[in-house]
Amino acid sequence: MCGIIAYAGKNNATDCIYEGLKNLEYRGYDSAGIAVKRGDDIFVCKREGRVKNLEEGINGVRGRFAIGHTRWATHGKPSDRNAHPHFVGGFYVVHNGIIENYAELKAELLAEGRSFFSETDSEVIPHLINKYYEGDLLCAVALAVRRLKGSYALCIMHENFSGVIAVCNKSPAILGYGKGEYFVCSDAPAIADMAEEICVLCDGDIAVITEKSVKIYNDRLELQVRERVANFASKASLDLGDCPHYMLKEIKEIPTAVQNTITACEAVDLQKLSAFLQGVDKVVLTGCGTAFHTCLIAKDWVEEFCSLCAVAETAGEWRYKKSPVNEKTLVVAVSQSGETADTLEAARLAKKYGARVIAITNVGYSAITRIADFTIPVVAGAEICVAATKSYCAQLISLWFLIAVLAKVNASTYEQLFKRAYTMPQLCEKTINGLSLDALCEKIKEASGVYFIGRGLDCAVAKEGSLKLKEVSLKPGEGYASGELKHGTLALIDKSTYSVAVMSDENLCEKNLSAIKQITARGGKVAAVCSCKEYIKKLLSVCDFVISIPKCDRALSPIISVLPLQYIAYKVAVLCGCDPDKPRNLAKSVTVE
Ligand code: M6R
Repeated sequence: MCGIIAYAGKNNATDCIYEGLKNLEYRGYDSAGIAVKRGDDIFVCKREGRVKNLEEGINGVRGRFAIGHTRWATHGKPSDRNAHPHFVGGFYVVHNGIIENYAELKAELLAEGRSFFSETDSEVIPHLINKYYEGDLLCAVALAVRRLKGSYALCIMHENFSGVIAVCNKSPAILGYGKGEYFVCSDAPAIADMAEEICVLCDGDIAVITEKSVKIYNDRLELQVRERVANFASKASLDLGDCPHYMLKEIKEIPTAVQNTITACEAVDLQKLSAFLQGVDKVVLTGCGTAFHTCLIAKDWVEEFCSLCAVAETAGEWRYKKSPVNEKTLVVAVSQSGETADTLEAARLAKKYGARVIAITNVGYSAITRIADFTIPVVAGAEICVAATKSYCAQLISLWFLIAVLAKVNASTYEQLFKRAYTMPQLCEKTINGLSLDALCEKIKEASGVYFIGRGLDCAVAKEGSLKLKEVSLKPGEGYASGELKHGTLALIDKSTYSVAVMSDENLCEKNLSAIKQITARGGKVAAVCSCKEYIKKLLSVCDFVISIPKCDRALSPIISVLPLQYIAYKVAVLCGCDPDKPRNLAKSVTVE
């Protein structure tokens, strides 16, 4: 949530920041802003809405140092006034995170005669720096951040300082090293092709970036050494190519994401992981949104293949429960970004209670990897669309790998189980290439509500299909277990609604068919997603539309049956005039609680 970026170097800082902000826009698109140091003065441009709204205002502005921000509003509505950078007395600040004690700090600062311009929590930060400044910016920043509670990644400039100061605490901040230029940003893809190496700042770090050097201090201002690694993010991953939207591009990338994740899993140190899993007697799977839906599927896998008790719980709930965990409990934290605040907190708590923690993440340098004991990679590549698509499929492969190893520890065979995933890349490709759903999407566009149903593993897929459609097309609806229909949701069904039944387990087809009939008997229209050839004929006589998907391994079917649902969400969003890449009110990487 919110993207921050800073630049110090030989090139025009304005251009570099503008480019970086466009790359970071998926983190928030309520407003954008930039501050550029031109000699002794600092130029500022802030605009409500998208980054492109800055273009006219910054045209021709040149400088060597700059900071920029793209906002997802938490305190104060989206507006020019609430846009970052916030500035007071020559101090300019961009902030990602939340200052939890801002109200008491603001009261203190107001009592001292200071005035505030915005409704944001962030504005207390330049005031505090200004308050503590006695000629040394680094000292003033260190004193100011000691007063802050909450999460913050900051970039700071001052009229009398030729450089930028960055601060990191529970919000991501990455330093980028280019040729004669340095960057700070929230996420490495933002500086793809501009920085050859990156360094991830740790909580408490304060970095001073000038044209010539970067120095990193801890909160006591002692110099620190941090590892620099190659920046593997590439500009190519940000190019749309022939696709009109990232969502469609990323759906098409699923076969590659699945294959790359299979390859990466097979490179994991099996001996080390097996040893780590020895003695595990319970598994807790946690994550948020789409990542949570992969947990629901993996929970069933743990029970079926590892004969262990498993719990799947959203991280935002689990962290507030008194769930019994101990050193024999394995907590699996799933997060595409590795930054989601609730998932990070759940992982921290699990560690505190003595559990073993495994992270499943698409971002190898993210915060969750520093909390977990062990990380299993997801190699989906940069996912720019706010709606998670390819990361869902690739996360399932990583979870399948974990379950295969855990099953081995519990006396089955890892090899036999994991290699069942080998056919998935081709099956994904075949499914995606075979989708012909535009006529169906035209009908769904007209529906007053869209309901997704499924049984067993298909229930989690139904929930994911519903989340995706709601998120990108703003169509109301719900995803739930087929058997629950008659216990409540059936009351909502009438001829204006559309339902989508997911049926990939032939053992459950008959039961699903009766749920479909309950819907059609009330005038509701149904599309069925089915891989069981023998049922297609029956379905054609009851349903409004039938989507035939390739038959695949029953356990792994959630990787295939979700594909038509992702496409439906995409297409309906476009038909409804929504931007599928930037859903209303949402942003990628929910770093606030
Ligand atoms: O980065 P994470 O996987 O932790 O993100 C979790 C959710 O915020 C995310 O999956 C969200 O539900 C997606 N936008 C859904 O498409």
